[in-house]
Amino acid sequence: IIGFSDVFSSKRLPYDYEQQGLGKEIVIKFSYVVAENTPKGLAAKMFAHLVNQKTKGRVKVELFPDGSLYNEFDEIDALKQGNVQMIAPSFSIISNQIPEWMVMDLPFAFPNDQAVQAAFHGAIGQELLQTLQSKNMIGMAFWGNGFRQITNDKRPIIQPKDFNGINFRIEQSKVMEDKFRLMHANTTAVPFNQLFQKLESGTVDGEENSISNIYSKKLYQFQNYITICNESYLGYVVLFNQTFWNRIPKDLQNDISEALQETTAWENEEAIQLNQEQWNMLKNIPGLNVHELTPAEKKQWMAVWNPIYDQYKPIFGKQMIEQIRELQR
Ligand code: LMR
Repeated sequence: IIGFSDVFSSKRLPYDYEQQGLGKEIVIKFSYVVAENTPKGLAAKMFAHLVNQKTKGRVKVELFPDGSLYNEFDEIDALKQGNVQMIAPSFSIISNQIPEWMVMDLPFAFPNDQAVQAAFHGAIGQELLQTLQSKNMIGMAFWGNGFRQITNDKRPIIQPKDFNGINFRIEQSKVMEDKFRLMHANTTAVPFNQLFQKLESGTVDGEENSISNIYSKKLYQFQNYITICNESYLGYVVLFNQTFWNRIPKDLQNDISEALQETTAWENEEAIQLNQEQWNMLKNIPGLNVHELTPAEKKQWMAVWNPIYDQYKPIFGKQMIEQIRELQR
């Protein structure tokens, strides 16, 4: 195997290696923080397989799951610097670099999976992908995981007052911070690969995540309560380093794009199914008390969170908020 830098930075320019036949590979290092039995973990494997198949082994995708190479606090820099070539960070993480992405984390932004898909494939998705261009990153696809649910070890979270004083782990995200602050809860930003340990040690009392992440990382072991509230959506943007991408020969770019399209179509279906299957297992775990938020309770939460929409309007612009509001009708 020879790495990207060997192929492209050498005096033998990109297309040189093509003339040398199939013996040498371009390597795409793909770093992500979740476990393998998650929508992103499975999709990464599928993508690696399809790329290998379509490029007849000329491009190899190397997978680094579980934050084994970088966690989400440093993976964007690693991508920009070319230490990895591909990542799929959550919208929260990308919003630290590009605030427009906070729109995806607005509380109750998406009422259901159809609304999420409409955002991915519509004007919101397009606008967000364009924001990446100036950052030497190219956004190639949206992958879903699932709606975030709230877990903790203190008390059932049903009404806004129940959040009071609980310390929640959040992703590094302004919107998340404000959301819990408005509920009079505390927050601590913790990388995903440290979350298990922070819950175990009691450094944080609770967290918000997709069923798949709660299940696959066994976070439920330290949590007595889960509220099924669908309060926000955990989704990802699939990113390549732009310079790297531009230097891949056209025919291979096409193969990789095709592999990604097939993976993406599968991933977004799989995310729904896997979260459902893992929920069926999670809800039967002894000691985990489940509350499903009723529409009336959701209204109470929303009354507290509504100001966030106005607060962040200057960042996304009025039009983006209107597009989100449209999906809620
Ligand atoms: C989290 O940090 O909770 C998630 O964003 C991790 C992930 O990539 O799903």
